[in-house]
Amino acid sequence: MASIELRQLSKRYGKNPVVHGIDLHIGDGEFVALVGPSGCGKSTLLRMIAGLEETSGGEIHLGARRIDPIAPRDRDIAMVFQNYALYPHMTVADNLGFSLRLQKVRPAEIRVRVAEVAGILGLSPLLERKPGQLSGGQRQRVAMGRAILRRPQAFLFDEPLSNLDAKLRVQVRTEIKALHQRLRTTTVYVTHDQVEAMTLADRIVVLKDGHIEQVGTPLELYDRPGNAFVAGFIGSPAMNFIPGRLQLEGAPHVLTDDGLRLPLARAPRAEQGTRVVYGARPEHFSLVGGDDDEGVAAEVRVVEPTGSDTQVAARVAGHDIVAQLRERIGARPGELLRLRPQAELAHVFDAGSGLRLN
Ligand SMILES: Nc1ncnc2c1ncn2[C@@H]1O[C@H](COP(=O)(O)OP(=O)(O)OP(=O)(O)O)[C@@H](O)[C@H]1O
Ligand SMILES: [Mg+2]
Repeated sequence: MASIELRQLSKRYGKNPVVHGIDLHIGDGEFVALVGPSGCGKSTLLRMIAGLEETSGGEIHLGARRIDPIAPRDRDIAMVFQNYALYPHMTVADNLGFSLRLQKVRPAEIRVRVAEVAGILGLSPLLERKPGQLSGGQRQRVAMGRAILRRPQAFLFDEPLSNLDAKLRVQVRTEIKALHQRLRTTTVYVTHDQVEAMTLADRIVVLKDGHIEQVGTPLELYDRPGNAFVAGFIGSPAMNFIPGRLQLEGAPHVLTDDGLRLPLARAPRAEQGTRVVYGARPEHFSLVGGDDDEGVAAEVRVVEPTGSDTQVAARVAGHDIVAQLRERIGARPGELLRLRPQAELAHVFDAGSGLRLN
């Protein structure tokens, strides 16, 4: 195992820059998730680390070695893709052992190592089957097993679960986490899925347009996003944003153009009257009685009971918001509810730069 270090790593396709001088250190044994909107450069970054894509500038280090000038097969990194290709005519056991046979490892040792990895991944009863006789999740585990068998210094995953149905995705996600806890192999994991990134990663890297927006632990990004982009990207349903002006006289709050007061626990680092965006996560609203001053009037649009809670889409001061409430609510579209955003947990961003102010 080894750390991965990216230094001023960049990529252009023709004249088109898609990755802009990225600096990132991934510790030995760390699990890092790369997230960001479609086209932001996640796969390109991963493919440069694997050596499937040439770099346009900068350096990639794996442990003590600089690997960007090295051929992919000599990098000692295993990559698992969204569309994993297994050899259809070979059994699971032969698929797993294939790379070891190429390395001329003795058959007896291959059998032992295949059996060990099959045990870890719950594939032991399936070793004699062909890929066509497996479910999608089982095939994905074989693909992971192949990567593990090589005992690489690092794993790269590019949306490995996106072809699986919701239930399997959760199962294989748990297996990936258990596997990482056991093997502690340095891992870079690209995903579109919020929950996957939050639950699997030691740290999350948020990319946008080939730049890093923020790097932090899942809860750091969730609790203290550094800017409005990260705030809107991390968390599902997404954070609500309501624009207004900062009011610091008396109890600090944000005043919307409609005259609505959105409470703040402390004065942010900005001047009275600054144009800001108030951020409140859906789960940080609570339902209050009709005469509560701190509540804001919300006109109900859609009520979605999930069983464990209720999601309410509503309009507040002319803006669409979503609130996730503990209560079961029978409100009909058009009805007014009073919702109170938790002042302690509110976020304030500069309306121009998007940077966090509190
Ligand atoms: N071979 C290529 N030639 C030219 N442009 C490319 C090539 N591959 C990718 N790009 C462009 O580079 C940018 C980054 O692509 P990349 O595949 O890394 O995005 P991504 O973050 O993985 O997106 P997604 O979430 O959709 O998989 C995109 O604008 C894409 O169109
Ligand atoms: Mg991609």
